Amino acid sequence: MTAATDTITETFRPALHYAARNTWLNDPNGLIFHDGVYHLYYQNNPQGNVWGNMSWGHATSTDLLTWTERPVAIACDENEEIFSGSIVYDRDNTSGFGTESVAPLVAIYTSAYKPGSEHEGVQAQSLAHSLDGGYTWTKHTGNPVLNRGSADFRDPKVIRYDGDAGSYWVMVAVEAKDFQVVFYKSDDLKNWELLSTFGPANATGGIWECPDLFPLPVDGDPENLKWVLTVNLNPGGPNNGSAGQYFVGNFDGKSFISASTVSEGLQDPDRLGEYQWLDWGRDYYAAVSFYDAPDNRCLMIAWMNNWEYANHIPTTPWRSPMSLAREITLTASDGKLSLIQQPVGDWAALADPSKSFTLSETTISDTTLVLDGAAGTVQRIDATFAPGSGEEFGLIVRGDGVQGTRVGIRPGEDSLVVDRRESGITDFHETFPSCDSAPIQPLDGGYHLTIFVDHCSVEIFAQGGQVTMTELIFPADTSTEVAVYATGGTATVNHLQITQVA
Ligand code: FRU
Repeated sequence: MTAATDTITETFRPALHYAARNTWLNDPNGLIFHDGVYHLYYQNNPQGNVWGNMSWGHATSTDLLTWTERPVAIACDENEEIFSGSIVYDRDNTSGFGTESVAPLVAIYTSAYKPGSEHEGVQAQSLAHSLDGGYTWTKHTGNPVLNRGSADFRDPKVIRYDGDAGSYWVMVAVEAKDFQVVFYKSDDLKNWELLSTFGPANATGGIWECPDLFPLPVDGDPENLKWVLTVNLNPGGPNNGSAGQYFVGNFDGKSFISASTVSEGLQDPDRLGEYQWLDWGRDYYAAVSFYDAPDNRCLMIAWMNNWEYANHIPTTPWRSPMSLAREITLTASDGKLSLIQQPVGDWAALADPSKSFTLSETTISDTTLVLDGAAGTVQRIDATFAPGSGEEFGLIVRGDGVQGTRVGIRPGEDSLVVDRRESGITDFHETFPSCDSAPIQPLDGGYHLTIFVDHCSVEIFAQGGQVTMTELIFPADTSTEVAVYATGGTATVNHLQITQVA
């Protein structure tokens, strides 16, 4: 490793997001909370920092902010690569992989069969189990357990269904190129029966990957449960490249009936703004929820990257971080069911209270105001703005007086904007420099932004988590300034608070 490589590594390595020590990662896999520990498995190339040799890497955490890398959990071999999938806790040992005293964890993953292997060219679903709480895994000798002879059948997410139709395992997976989610059921995780299919619907500008299915109470009412089906697609996101859409509806144990299908069949890209997105930024893909999260909460992590430029981001020797974990809830407003997302993890507990910064009731006019005493590289910013006559207003983070990442509101356009064209290093791929936007409505006449800044990312939770945007940035570690700005007139910062972690 050269000195220059070292410098790059330390500049961008996230403080409060997971990244592998010196290898490549993509999708989070098999997220599970078990015996007091959050397990994050992930698509990993144990031998390099670009995609390849797909295996399941492994990291653990107790606070969802700080992670410990573990040995590779499930490794590729001469026959198969280990593509994305999920893990369940088989409490009743339905699979028979357990012993009298230990119920197994069972991983359900896609075997992507290699040239020259028995199932060459096929993607099929396979099992592995762990009897030591997820640290070591044994592949099932009867793999694959579900083979449709398809080249693009992958990303099984298994949940336990307990409802009017009975109690059994349900798998959602994709036929990626058919823009279809397929639903299967099983009593033992080994024998699977097709229940139904869903799609194509809404966004179909790219292949469908990594689905998830979970129930959520509407506005916390346990008597009013709805089901959410998430589907990641690549490309075809609202700001180009990889992104995740979701549908809200009902699942009766057999079929998913969507209440948020705007259009069926293959779609016109002009309708992207009508669909529901997990995140409107460029770098939030393959999001998936934890099995057995505490208190029945729905917690999700996504890969913080985009297939458009994923293999090129300047973070040698590791490449790609995960997003922060988010709690997902469901709310009804204006006759529509939508997800609300909130970051999980106690940043305040890791913060340096002597460096906290606040500002209140400050009106700015056609200016950029650098905030004295607010500089930092890892920070949570909470800001509330009231619009004035300005066309655009907001914050510039990781700035140096010349460059910075702009997070702004354009009230006349009802849009939230993230402009990373001058965020630092952007020239590693032509599609990276971007000015991206998401629809946003004022709330009580104003705009609330919570922004999590780390060494190579910004994650924005606007209007209490109604709209989120996640983007990678690669600023110099000397770019630490925070500024507020308004263009074309005035805007008022009602309140701004910064929690500094580093
Ligand atoms: C999504 C994906 C999955 C696949 C995995 C391979 O990013 O393409 O569909 O299982 O990555 O690494």
